[in-house]
Amino acid sequence: MPPPKTVKIVEVGPRDGLQNEPAIIATATKAELIARLGKAGLRAIEATAFVSPRWVPQMADNAAVMAAIERLPGVAYPVLTPNLQGLEAALAAGAREVAVFGAASESFSQKNINCSIADSLKRFEPVVTAARQVGVQVRGYVSCVLGCPYEGEVQPTAVAQVAGALFDMGCYEVSLGDTIGVGTPEAAKRLIEAVSARVPLDCIAGHYHDTYGMAIANIYASLQCGVAVFDASVAGLGGCPYAKGASGNVATEDVVYLLNGLGIATGIDLDALIDCSAWISATLGRPPGSKVARARIGLPSPATEPS
Ligand code: HMG
Ligand code: MG
Repeated sequence: MPPPKTVKIVEVGPRDGLQNEPAIIATATKAELIARLGKAGLRAIEATAFVSPRWVPQMADNAAVMAAIERLPGVAYPVLTPNLQGLEAALAAGAREVAVFGAASESFSQKNINCSIADSLKRFEPVVTAARQVGVQVRGYVSCVLGCPYEGEVQPTAVAQVAGALFDMGCYEVSLGDTIGVGTPEAAKRLIEAVSARVPLDCIAGHYHDTYGMAIANIYASLQCGVAVFDASVAGLGGCPYAKGASGNVATEDVVYLLNGLGIATGIDLDALIDCSAWISATLGRPPGSKVARARIGLPSPATEPS
């Protein structure tokens, strides 16, 4: 399969990237991050999550973030909605795209959303139906597609089943989450082969965390399978509250650099993105997690930093 000529990057930094930050970040900072990402050319920016503030305190200002966003034309600002309560709050806050999120592993499903896989799918169905009834698009996520922090190996067929169920219920795209970043390229290819038997290839996205440094290799392998949508997080921000030790998503700058090198168009201005990466990293008090940003800014690589 030839790699795609254009790729869509779904920026998940403001949600996936920030959700695990221990100190509460000001709503204005989140809104400015979203604005800078939009100016850098991102056309899908996951803005926040309408989840329980007891489970994820960092996302408690979800409605305030939505109110603070200056919406750019042609830019989608999707938000997470795990249940009808979340959907209602998201719609009231002006969300025009939402996402439901399940898992391919029972233990992760319990830890993350407090129910079994089967119950989660039953819970998502009315969310998807109600959203679509008011013209709101729904994306689906499957977590633990290449491994689970509690159960270890996850079979591609198990992922395909959950991804297929999300697609059948009306999700326009299913994003495959390597939540703990343990995947390797051949495993990613086997995964995409299995999932594409249930979900059309052009409705599959890759969501690779970079815990083991394999995310760029997994994206390269996925491109060769024909996947053309990837989630990424500016500066490599992030971690997962229910997956100990998981690092952030692959850094958006690193993905754009890879795609530029491959001659694949994204519409993203790498210099503006690096400026945004440097700004949010300075605001959070740390250097960017992106190798590309570090190289461009002239920072040493993490391996040469004094401990
Ligand atoms: P629960 O406790 O089973 O929910 O949580 P419940 O229905 O029994 O309600 C209990 C309380 O929560 C009630 O409040 C509800 O009002 C409230 P109380 O009466 O006790 O005061 N509640 C809510 N409040 C705000 N918004 C809501 C909501 N729903 C209930 N939507 C629930 C179930 C799903 C809500 C909870 O487990 C939850 O919020 N989980 C979210 C966890 C999360 O956000 N994880 C991170 C995102 S997923 C991710 O990062 C993976 C991804 O990046 C892909 C990858 O990398 O793999 C997407
Ligand atoms: Mg994630």
